Amino acid sequence: MAVEPVNVNEFQELARQVLPKMYYDFYSGGAEDQYTLDENIQAYHRITFRPRVLIDVSRISLSTTILGHHVSAPILIAPTAMHKLAHPEGEVATARAAASCNTIMVLSFGSTCTIEEVASSCDAVRFCQLYIYKRRDLSALVVQRAERNGFKAIVLTVDAPRLGRREADIRNKMVAPQVKNFEGLLPTDVVSDKGSDFQAYAEATLDPSFSWKDIGWLRSITNLPILIKGILTREDAIKAMEVGIAGIIVSNHGARQLDYSPATISVLEEVVHAVQGKVPVLIDGGIRRGTDVFKALALGAQAVLIGRPIIYGLAVKGEYGVRRVTEMLRDELELTMALSGCPSVNDITRSHVMTERDRA
Ligand code: FNR
Repeated sequence: MAVEPVNVNEFQELARQVLPKMYYDFYSGGAEDQYTLDENIQAYHRITFRPRVLIDVSRISLSTTILGHHVSAPILIAPTAMHKLAHPEGEVATARAAASCNTIMVLSFGSTCTIEEVASSCDAVRFCQLYIYKRRDLSALVVQRAERNGFKAIVLTVDAPRLGRREADIRNKMVAPQVKNFEGLLPTDVVSDKGSDFQAYAEATLDPSFSWKDIGWLRSITNLPILIKGILTREDAIKAMEVGIAGIIVSNHGARQLDYSPATISVLEEVVHAVQGKVPVLIDGGIRRGTDVFKALALGAQAVLIGRPIIYGLAVKGEYGVRRVTEMLRDELELTMALSGCPSVNDITRSHVMTERDRA
């Protein structure tokens, strides 16, 4: 590739050029009017800095721990489905990049490489994302396989009892015909009477009746810590703690589920205040710059997760592209910390940013 991207957004444009339109639209799109898709990014633009000066920033330390696991920077890889549509090596390439950047990858339930393939490809710390199948025994099997293969946590995604209405996929009649999910199933195996589209597959397999009272069942089948991904309110943050959750991910699924959900960064503080430091709070959605990562940390997140930019890096340059995206965000975060007077991530505080509410 002749053009060497200088920031994460430039990877998106290059990905658009190399991917078939159907797959690019699948990765980049959001639900319905895509209000939330835009807001996830715009809300970061409305937060400004209160930088401090004359602090020794000759050494900057980005490293931190997440659930006891050391990472080189508080920038993790979010679970996103079907990496083989972006690159033939799929999630194995993503996992190797995570390992070389010393960060954590959350493997999607819709992974196109098996749990075993990903586990044997490298020694990154991995978390396993989970949806609950109507066939609960199949979900239990996934948890057991994750545990057996050294995954360190389960990330239960709770914002998708049904799939959001992604109109680009409807328009394109999105299909992933040659790609098996990590159960080794083709969408057509499950929904042969409905066609092979992702939407029909999800609706045929996933259990919309799963509720708070069922978290006990999940806890009973695993010793792994469970994080809940998809919390946007203080009420649900409190409930999550009541059912014994080890961590919360503030997420609106990259704006692919309920349109007009708030930008995640705009509700982070509400959740952080409800949690009162009892469990770690992470966030994803719309993070495209090191400055965005800094803002999330200042508002109380312990780390961020990156979704689409990782896929764009993978599509453009495989494992190397994923590594570059992660490094770019890390380097930008390091510079932001230096220019804000924060030598370590623990030095980043609420007083380093100004939100719209502060200005009101
Ligand atoms: C996702 N996301 C997602 N989440 C999840 O829990 N399981 C999944 O299988 C997927 N799949 C998926 C596919 C694609 C193409 C995208 C873009 C997103 C949501 C993902 O984990 C994360 O919440 C968002 O991607 C974060 O927003 P950004 O970084 O993409 O803006």
